[in-house]
Amino acid sequence: MIKKPRGTEDVLPGQSEIRRLIEQTAHEVCRRYGYKEIRTPVFEDTALFSRGVGDTTDVVQKEMYTFEDKGGRSITLRPEGTASLARSYIENSLYANPQPTKLYYLISCYRYEKPQSGRLREFHQFGTECYGADDPAADSEVITLALDFLKALGVKGLTLNINSIGCPECKPAYNEKLRNYFAERADELCGTCRDRLEKNPMRILDCKSPVCHEIAQGAPKMLDHLCDDCREHFEKLKSYLDALGVEYTVDPDIVRGLDYYTKTVFEITSDDLGAQSAVCGGGRYNGLIEELGGKPTPGIGFALGIERIMMILKSQGISLGEPETPDIFIAAIGEKADMAAQKLVYSLRALGAHAERDLCLRSVKAQMKYANKLNAKFSIVLGDDEIDSGRAAIKNMSTGETLECGLEPGEIFDIIKQSEG
Ligand code: HAM
Repeated sequence: MIKKPRGTEDVLPGQSEIRRLIEQTAHEVCRRYGYKEIRTPVFEDTALFSRGVGDTTDVVQKEMYTFEDKGGRSITLRPEGTASLARSYIENSLYANPQPTKLYYLISCYRYEKPQSGRLREFHQFGTECYGADDPAADSEVITLALDFLKALGVKGLTLNINSIGCPECKPAYNEKLRNYFAERADELCGTCRDRLEKNPMRILDCKSPVCHEIAQGAPKMLDHLCDDCREHFEKLKSYLDALGVEYTVDPDIVRGLDYYTKTVFEITSDDLGAQSAVCGGGRYNGLIEELGGKPTPGIGFALGIERIMMILKSQGISLGEPETPDIFIAAIGEKADMAAQKLVYSLRALGAHAERDLCLRSVKAQMKYANKLNAKFSIVLGDDEIDSGRAAIKNMSTGETLECGLEPGEIFDIIKQSEG
């Protein structure tokens, strides 16, 4: 038997309804915040990610699904949304719109990671990006959007962790300090990190190898080496969050695994997630648009992992609505009634009801057993008598009560609707 690829999931009925509600909540919260939906291709030119995400990151060095297409181009399945959106912002001249441009997306992403709980090779993100605003007001807006979304789902026990990782003004001097620190234990670093030492020592700070991680614990912190501008920006962000009563922890160890970040970085974590505790990651990326060929434009955004949200909902026992069940099941005895049931179900569906009938030519007993399994709210059994008289008994399947009714679809539909109150 052919099985699904490692690290992927089938979203089955029962789960897909929950996902749809998560997505609807994302649409609704973004509407309130004035963010507009954007959809970009699943695959992009590989150079977009090596330049955008950074060629010394784990994502680019180890995790990308890259292949050559039949035209000899190097193509990559998107590992995340931020680089794709930045490309689209430039390519479609979205900077010509009134600024800031506020966008959101619900996408699938692909990373060749070692699958484990909360870590997949195909996963899904809900993310937002805001272009053209450098003030920390924008940072606090995207952070509160993420928190409002999680609150609307009823999720509890989250921690917001924030940090600042500086800008091109203050990063070079800090990188030098890091290089000196790591150089002393260079022999113990993993091969990838030894290469990173020269090119991008900050990447060593989020290496997944246990030895590198242990060495990184004692490294100097960027937060202690910010320039005045970055420090002021960070202080102002904190006062915006304080003013809104948003609780946060300053965590100087957050560096994020992608190269485009400048100034603010943040993560929202949950104790219900185990080792992969971040449900949301984001930050500011004031150099990305320029790096990809656009005019210098500040940007800030986040992405939330849909599968990790599903895990939290499950662990906290949060159910998003009841599963969909049929409003009515029309059973039929005999050929004439079968045809009538076919028409009645069709008309009830046209009116907006979820109507079902048997499609397998089963006995009436088996049809009713099926109706029970489907949890139908009402049922009608049609036979020759009902067809001839134009009247039938409609049964409320949970109370067992029956009521006589005509066979006009409108009359039946009204009974169903009345029962919903
Ligand atoms: P990220 O931290 O790489 O950031 O991913 C964001 C979220 O996606 C994570 O917090 C997690 O919930 C989910 N996620 C990441 N990798 C996996 C995986 N292998 N399996 C399951 N879920 C996963 C970004 O992607 C940035 N683009 C976020 C951003 C937007 N920064 C600025 N704007």
